[in-house]
Formats: sequence, structure tokens, C-alpha cells
Amino acid sequence: MIDLIQKLPKAELHLHIEGSLEPELMFRLAKKNKVEIPYKDIEDVRNAYNFTNLQTFLDIYYAGANVLLTKSDFYDLTWEYILKCVEDNVIHTEIFFDPQTHTDRGVPFEAVIMGIKEALADAKEKYGITSCIIMCFLRHLSQEQAFETLEQALAYKDDIIGVGLDSSELGNPPSKFKEVFKKAKEEGFKLVAHAGEEADFSYIYEALDLLNINRIDHGVQSIKSPELMQRLKDEQMPLTVCPNSNIELRVFDTYKEHNIKELLDYGLNISVNSDDPAYFKGYVNQNFINLCENLPMTEEDIVTLVKNSFRSAFISDELKDAYLARVDLALQ
Ligand code: ADE
Ligand code: ZN
Repeated sequence: MIDLIQKLPKAELHLHIEGSLEPELMFRLAKKNKVEIPYKDIEDVRNAYNFTNLQTFLDIYYAGANVLLTKSDFYDLTWEYILKCVEDNVIHTEIFFDPQTHTDRGVPFEAVIMGIKEALADAKEKYGITSCIIMCFLRHLSQEQAFETLEQALAYKDDIIGVGLDSSELGNPPSKFKEVFKKAKEEGFKLVAHAGEEADFSYIYEALDLLNINRIDHGVQSIKSPELMQRLKDEQMPLTVCPNSNIELRVFDTYKEHNIKELLDYGLNISVNSDDPAYFKGYVNQNFINLCENLPMTEEDIVTLVKNSFRSAFISDELKDAYLARVDLALQ
């Protein structure tokens, strides 16, 4: 199985670039930028990565992001992630970034987007990896602040394919962002939202019906509503599931209790993603390996998950077909 996982080309659709900040780079940038971090060494950082829910993770994740100040920091961050893509045979990636995490500290929007963009351009040139950028609104902030962020993004419309919604889910339902998502759609952005990660399935209904999203990030709480399951299946609505994340944030107590196999067997359009790999013990292949070690996954399941990642990507039908053909070729 590990051989199969390694040899299949994949797409990653749910990856927060700030969540790929490895402790080594965090220390290097902290030193360069003279930013204080509350850790004495790498081991100390890793020991702090012991989360009990989404919020305990987010507190540490936002503190880590404080070391990112300049365009070259965002370039380095993105480039390190691209090297992991090369290792894991990820040939297409759709990257989330959280502009408000940076602009609220005085970092220019331009520095963030250009650093990411230039690294992705180099990834295409050096490794042939294709990519898109998705800008997420922080849902613990107001819709008004999301509107301000959307306004800033309009100058980079060609570089940003879509908008998303992330951060503290409980108490910040999709309905809070209905108007800004409407405006984003009018501006031509694709729409995604974290929904049903920790909060119940009503958040998934809201994301579908009020935000009109094209993909659901996480969505694992759908299983509690047979009616929603049927709808997601009928619509083949993509769910970007992040198994390691769900274990590290205690959405499921153990890997054996993760519901991905049930979602897949029911016929939902599921892909496997790493979310915040530097914080959740591994990149996309490690997520696949953990699934195989803990659940009765078949080779066919792995191929379906990988093919779904391409089918659900924000790329042309021609490129989808070309990538699906590469999967078939790898299987021969
Ligand atoms: N930001 C980064 N990772 C996240 C997650 N898993 N859920 C919500 N917001 C996030
Ligand atoms: Zn996420």
C-alpha cells in the first residue's frame, strides 16, 4: 500500500500555507526578524503541539505565524511546502492563506501574496507542479473585516482563484458571512468553506444554502444527517477531508474511529489532505499511510480518493483528464 500511495500522483485541495511552517523555519525567521517566540528549542516547539480542540491549535498556529514578515519569508514558507509536494508526488496543489493574520500585524497584503505566488511560479517551472491560491476569511472576525479583505484582494484577482472561510468554527456559522460570499461570487471567485469540522451539520447546510460553496472543507459531521448525506452524494459535492488534523484536534478520539471509510463507501466525493502538516505530524502521504494502517482501506479506495482530488480541483476539464490519465498510467 505504501508503494501505491507513493507512486500515485495526487492533488492537495486543503492546505493552509501558514500550517506548513516547520519549527526549523520558524526559528530561522524568528531570529532573522527579531520576533520573540515562546520556545527555547525545536523540541520545545514539538512538545507544545499537543492540542485538545481546534481553538488550542489556532492559538499556537497564529503565534507561529508572527515570524512571517516579508515577501521572502512567504516565499521560503511556500517553497518548503513545495519540496514536500515533490517528495509526496503532489502534482497539483490549492493553497489557502489567511491574509488577515498578516495584515492585522502590519504586513502588506502584497508581500504575502507575491511571496506565495513567486514560489508557486518557480514550482511550476522547476517541477511542473500546478497550483491555485485561495484566500480565507477568518470567521472569528467580522463580516465587515472580511469585506475589507475582499476589497484588497480585488487587485490580485488573477492570482486568487477563490475565497474560503476558516478559523474558530463554533459560534461563527457560515450565515455570518452570507453577504461577503455573495459579493465574492459576483466578483468571479470560487467559494469554499470549512464546515462541519467541529460544529454540527447545520453549518454544512448553511455553507451550501447560504454561501453557495463549490467545496466543503472537512464536512465530517455530515454523517449525522442521512438527508444531508444523500444530498452530498447526489450533488457529488467535494469534501476535503484531513484525517491527521481530525485526530490531532480530537474530532475523533482515535484513527480507528475516523469516519472517512464510511463517507467514501456511501459514495461521497472525498479527498485526503494535510490541512496544517507542520502541526499535525505529516504531509499528505502520511495521512494516507495512517488511514491504511488503521482502517480497512482497499487499493481501490486509495485510487478513488486520489482521483477525487483531481476531479474536485479548480482546474480545466482538459487538465483534469490529463492528470487522471497520469494516475492510470502510474497504476499500470
Ligand atoms: N486554520 C488552519 N487550520 C484550520 C482548521 N483545521 N480549521 C479551521 N481553521 C483553520
Ligand atoms: Zn483547514
